[in-house]
Amino acid sequence: MRYILAVVAVAILGAGIGLYVVTLPDPVPVSPPAPLSDAQLEALPADREGQVLIYGAYGFTGQGISRLAEDYEITPVLAGRNESKLRPLAEELGFDYVVLSLENNHDNLVKVLSHFEIVLHIAGPYTYTAKPMLDAVVEAGTHYVDLTGENHVIQAQLDRDEEFRRANIMVMPAVGYDVVPTDCLNVFVAQQIDKPSHLQVILDSSYKDVEGAQASRGTMKSALEMLGRPLLERRGGKMVPMTPKVIHRKEDGRDQTLIQIPWADMMTSYVSTGIPNIEVFQLQAGEIPGWLPRLAQSDFGRRVLAWLIDSYLPEGPPPNAQEQRQTRITSTVRNESGEEATAELITPEAYLLTFHSTLLIAKRVLEGEWSPGFQTPGKVYGADLVLEVPGVSRSPM
Ligand SMILES: NC(=O)c1ccc[n+]([C@@H]2O[C@H](COP(=O)([O-])OP(=O)(O)OC[C@H]3O[C@@H](n4cnc5c(N)ncnc54)[C@H](OP(=O)(O)O)[C@@H]3O)[C@@H](O)[C@H]2O)c1
Repeated sequence: MRYILAVVAVAILGAGIGLYVVTLPDPVPVSPPAPLSDAQLEALPADREGQVLIYGAYGFTGQGISRLAEDYEITPVLAGRNESKLRPLAEELGFDYVVLSLENNHDNLVKVLSHFEIVLHIAGPYTYTAKPMLDAVVEAGTHYVDLTGENHVIQAQLDRDEEFRRANIMVMPAVGYDVVPTDCLNVFVAQQIDKPSHLQVILDSSYKDVEGAQASRGTMKSALEMLGRPLLERRGGKMVPMTPKVIHRKEDGRDQTLIQIPWADMMTSYVSTGIPNIEVFQLQAGEIPGWLPRLAQSDFGRRVLAWLIDSYLPEGPPPNAQEQRQTRITSTVRNESGEEATAELITPEAYLLTFHSTLLIAKRVLEGEWSPGFQTPGKVYGADLVLEVPGVSRSPM
């Protein structure tokens, strides 16, 4: 919610959206890029085994993952569409790089991906970036993970499950803060009672807070893609329209307000646990003004807001906030017999957790631990996967 408020603040401080609107560039149609040269292709790894491509490497999150890769014994090749942003990062880290756009570039994508065992797709909003990469990994036979939290994107991937199985690749979306900790915790609590029918997840991202941006620009722009679509929730096994609920409670001596949010668990933990009713709440940090979702309904409105985000907001949470913040996640299941179970996770800051969880899963894939088709972290790697991220604790264990 805070990032939404930040957007609003920018919009108000900007005091003249109209002025900005007239200066927004129109999207230009992209003609197919030239085929990659033999020299470019020969520079890629000859044997795909153990090879990792990080696409979107120079974005806020891509950089965090790229900088941490060697801690996981991964020497990636970095990729992205803008050489002037990509090359300095690759040179600084001592990794190879390949410049590659997603638009209208299927053949080049397939040729490049054929040199890699897995791609970490870190370029979003995924509303625009997921499909071209997925079309290419299917043809190249390359495993795929991404960081999407956009539920319509996850649904589109789930719909292609059979195709991914036939290609003998694993496609695992949402391997970051959204949803590794929650999915693992949900699998854990679901195992505590018979036939759980309802799952409730509560996110408290202000559990231990530190001054500074809460979200990256990419996260905010991806959130706009959600705001611009009908909100859905998991009820009776189906995704149905959601009117966000509000819960008032007293916790730790404080009055708290919880707001229902469209977190990706409603897609992924349904696959991981089979629980047909899933609700996710977040501790409220502010109100969303009514005009924001309305503005986000149109392509033009989203472009205005995205431009404001890119022009005025910081790239993402500063390093000290990444090191010091903590979040608390509580998951509760119940069944038709009235049994209930609850468990809690304390995690490091969301982006720092994302850097680790993405690489942790990439490493597992390279070690041969993967299942074909659309997959979720808790289903393939189990409830304890998240405990391997430094700084995560669970109670009960
Ligand atoms: N699940 C989670 O917990 C989690 C955590 C962190 C991030 N994320 C998601 O990960 C994504 C990236 O986040 P971020 O923080 O790194 O954002 P960011 O700093 O804005 O970086 C976005 C990256 O995506 C690239 N990109 C965007 N559109 C593209 C396109 N059409 N074709 C090729 N490249 C494109 C950008 O390249 P250019 O600069 O060339 O545009 C940049 O490298 C977002 O969707 C965010 O929501 C999720």
